[in-house]
Amino acid sequence: MLIKQIESIIVDEIPDSGNICNILGLMKSELNLFWVGLYIRNGQKLGLGAFQGLPACTVIQWGKGVCGTAASSGEVVIVDDVTEFPGYIACHTETASEIVIPGFINGKVEFVLDVDSESKSAFDVVDKICLEQITEILSRFVK
Ligand code: SME
Repeated sequence: MLIKQIESIIVDEIPDSGNICNILGLMKSELNLFWVGLYIRNGQKLGLGAFQGLPACTVIQWGKGVCGTAASSGEVVIVDDVTEFPGYIACHTETASEIVIPGFINGKVEFVLDVDSESKSAFDVVDKICLEQITEILSRFVK
């Protein structure tokens, strides 16, 4: 259902950033998220990209935090309780659980989708599958 809604708001005539922000905005409201956004690969770092929510950490080292771990491993990382993740990077004290999905372009991780909730254990394997599909859609607009 959310995937269909996302596909329906995508338009060709606008900058890629407009489509990305609309997709993230729809996700935030439909999934009742605290924060959702992209971190984009820049060498051995991840830099803050488009997001919906409060201002966030701007630079994350490759391999560090939840985002850097998902980027370096190429695997989705689900954190039920952020206080128990070693090396967690706390941009917002409100975030209780988090899921990060690596985004691939030409077979390489070029960005991650970071999805944060104020509730513990907000994300499961069903969310993972849906968010992987959304990340693939987003990859069309990330340069
Ligand atoms: N918590 C993330 C950092 C990004 S913020 O949640 C927006 C991490 O540990 O990588």
